[in-house]
Formats: sequence, structure tokens, C-alpha cells
Amino acid sequence: MNVDKKAFTLTDNRSGKTYELDVLKGTDGPDVIDVRKLYSETGHFAYDPGFTSTGSCQSEITFIDGEKGVLLYRGYPIEQLAEKSNFLEVCYLLIYGNLPISESMRIFSQRITYHTMLHEQLNLLFKGFRRDSHPMAIMNGVVGALSSFYHDSTDITDPRHRFIASTRMIAKMPTIAATAYRYSKGLPFAYPRNDLGFSENFLYMMFSNPCEEYVTNPILSRAMDRILMLHADHEQNASTSTVRISGSSGANPFACIAAGIASLWGPAHGGANEAVLAMLKEIKTKDRVPEYIKRAKNKEDPFRLMGFGHRVYKNFDPRATILRQSAHEVLGDLGIEDDPILDLALELEQIALKDDYFVSRKLYPNVDFYSGIIYRALGIPTSMFTVLFAVARTVGWVAQWNEMIEDPTQKIGRPRQLYTGETERDYVDVKDR
Ligand code: SDX
Repeated sequence: MNVDKKAFTLTDNRSGKTYELDVLKGTDGPDVIDVRKLYSETGHFAYDPGFTSTGSCQSEITFIDGEKGVLLYRGYPIEQLAEKSNFLEVCYLLIYGNLPISESMRIFSQRITYHTMLHEQLNLLFKGFRRDSHPMAIMNGVVGALSSFYHDSTDITDPRHRFIASTRMIAKMPTIAATAYRYSKGLPFAYPRNDLGFSENFLYMMFSNPCEEYVTNPILSRAMDRILMLHADHEQNASTSTVRISGSSGANPFACIAAGIASLWGPAHGGANEAVLAMLKEIKTKDRVPEYIKRAKNKEDPFRLMGFGHRVYKNFDPRATILRQSAHEVLGDLGIEDDPILDLALELEQIALKDDYFVSRKLYPNVDFYSGIIYRALGIPTSMFTVLFAVARTVGWVAQWNEMIEDPTQKIGRPRQLYTGETERDYVDVKDR
């Protein structure tokens, strides 16, 4: 990182005092003004509630350019990875920083495979939930409980512990997700198979029937693998920031990932894919689209167009562009000629992209707008959409968590505030109130 010393001068016009601030320069994207000494020198905090203008850390993992619609994992464009790579290779890339040679990939893949099984006691935990529990609630509970099973990988200061915990998280999330699904259906749990690839194994654990021979479907596996790649990491989004700030206190990795799952669940974040399907089902027909576009623009109405808008992308989300293409391919491959939900989504997209309200606010379809349509075609129930997002994003959370712990400058995350409450006052006995 390069430093432009004293690149900014800050003047307090009330006192005439001036302060000089350095600019820190990265390898791409906006530079940052170093305000770490702002309070100690000026007695003022910076104020940025939604972190719209705040860099919370340095990172080498993922780069986004919201204006150009660019997404790079360790420098590789998402479009090239989606076309040429696979999810496990992207996991290796995000964690280690470079694409693996074949021997390294074999070893990494084998290690993940041999950690996909769950401790048998964990299966009892699933059975404590109601059958109609939301699978995100089950995933959150089970992942948080992992720290009670793996005492050999909770010392975050030990690189070996971090290595094992990271491997376990990536490997076990598909098994936890599939088990939550099968529990909700009253199906017997399916053990992972070591002869199947990551996405094939996930679909097997989800949909295999113990009474019949399971036949893998390469179209579904490839579609699933591509969706997982697209969701793997995304810079300092809400859930990743949650994992980082949880980890900054020294909490164990399983608790940090459980915190990330909780944050991802929100409909403004990873829960949006489930909300998009619910919205399309509520709109039902193309002739009702204008009514919902009108509602989305009405500030008095809490309705928002789910799957549209993004804090960073003020252009098309490159993942949405890939998923839009993939949705057509998957539906075509599966012989689903006219999918009314996809038709409705395309109509909604076309109308919104011509409407000044959305254009002026640069509200474009995001990753969640099309993912649900593909999940539906793959036979994934709507309640599992955010669970799949969590399966994919676990590698991003794990990579960012390790980067945070290995950052020598990292401190516990502890923001301050602008206090607007009561000033000091004395206690009044109830008889005098
Ligand atoms: C993800 O951060 C990440 O990287 C997240 C993610 C990842 O990979 O981790 O990319 C995954 O979470 C994608 C986003 C999924 N969420 C949704 O699709 C939910 C719908 N979108 C909105 O809730 C919203 O767009 C956000 C939360 C995504 C972004 O909100 P911002 O950046 O805080 O924007 P804002 O609320 O300040 O909106 C700016 C304006 C406002 O209107 P004005 O006050 O200027 O009049 O745009 C309006 C908003 O009311 N607006 C919308 C809208 N999104 C923003 N109006 C209608 N429908 C929408 N969807």
C-alpha cells in the first residue's frame, strides 16, 4: 500500500485550526483518507451510519467496481471464472490467492471431501427443531453448535486450528443445508458420497431417494456449481462485515460464521432471492406489473422491488448478467419452454429499466433477481434459496475471516456514535414523578 502523506487538509472553520490527513492508495479502486487519528487530533468522530463512504479494512480478496459493473476474485473476472472454473477451484483461489496447479487442487478437493460428514450427534440436533422450521433457522443453530463439537479447531491464534475450522466450514455447509431440507420433508438424512464432486454431492444429499438408484444430472450440477461460484464472495457486504467484526473479538470461527448466516438472512441482503420469488408470485401476471412498479416508487409504501438495487453496483451486477443468461440455458436444457415466472421477471426487468425512478437511482437487477428462477428450475424450494447463498458465501466469509486475523493492524471492531439522547439528570423517586 502506498501513502500520500498529508494529501488532505481539514480545516475547522469555527476555530481556523487545520489538520492534515494522509491518503492510502490500493492497487485498484478508490483511495482512502486515513481518519484513524481524526478523533485524537480533532475531538470529532467521522459519521457514516451505513458505511456508504467508509472502508473498514484492507483486503486482497475481492474487488468490485460498482460504476463499471466489475467483480474480480483475486484479480480474475467473474465472467471468466463462471465460464472456465468450478466452485471448489474458486474456493482454493479465494483462500490461497492463486489458481491451483492440479496436484494442489487434488489435495484440496480430497481434504474438503473427507470433511463433508457431520458428527452423528449433530443429527440429533436437527431433530430438536420443528419440521416446519425455516431452514435458515436450522442452519444458524447447527452451525453455531459446531463449536461444541470441534474443540480442536477453535483457537484462532493457532494457524492449524484456523486451517481445520475453515476446511470443516466449507465442507460441511452443503451437508447441513441438505440435512435441514430433508428434515423439513420427513426424509431420512443422506450421507455425503466421496465419489461425487462438490455440487453433484450437494444435489445427491438433497434429492436422492434411498429406495432408488440415484442418477446425477450434469446440467443441474453445472448450473448449481456456477451459482455457487457467483455467490462465493463479495467484498465487505453486510454478512461478511458481520463475520469480520465478530471475529475481531476473538470469537471462534463457527460462532462467527453463524453470525454471518444470521445477517445474510435479511431480505435486504441474502434473503432477497427468496423475497424475489415471493414478489413474482404475488404479482402473478404481467398486467399487474405497473401497479407494483408504482408501489415500489411510493415512499409511503414499504414495498420495494426485490432483486433490484445495490449499495455498490450502480450499473448491472455482473452476476445478474451471467445468471440471466444461465436462466435461459438451464430452462432450455431442462425443456422448460415457457416459464411464467421467468417471463414475468423479464417483463418486470424491461419495465423497470425504462422507468426514470429506477434509471435515475441506478437501480438495476442484482444477483438475487435471477438466482431464484434457476433454483426453482433445479427443484430447490424457495425456503432453501438463502440457505444456498450461505453454502456459497461460507468460503468468502472464511477467507475474509482468516485475512482479518492475519492482518497485523486489525483491532477489535468498536465504532462510536453521535449521541442524541438525554444529557445527565438525577434520579427521581417514583412518588415525585
Ligand atoms: C445482496 O452488499 C452486497 O454486496 C450484497 C450482495 C452480496 O453478494 O453480498 O450483493 C447480495 O444483498 C444484493 C442486494 C439484495 N437486496 C435486494 O434485492 C432488496 C431490494 N434492494 C434494496 O433493499 C436496496 O437496493 C439495497 C438494500 C440493496 C441497497 O440499498 P441502499 O444502497 O442503502 O440504497 P438506498 O436504500 O439508499 O436507496 C437509494 C434510493 C432510495 O430512494 P430515495 O431515498 O433516493 O428516493 O433507491 C431507492 C430507495 O428508496 N431504492 C429502491 C430499491 N432499492 C433502492 N426503491 C425501490 N425498490 C428497490 N429495490
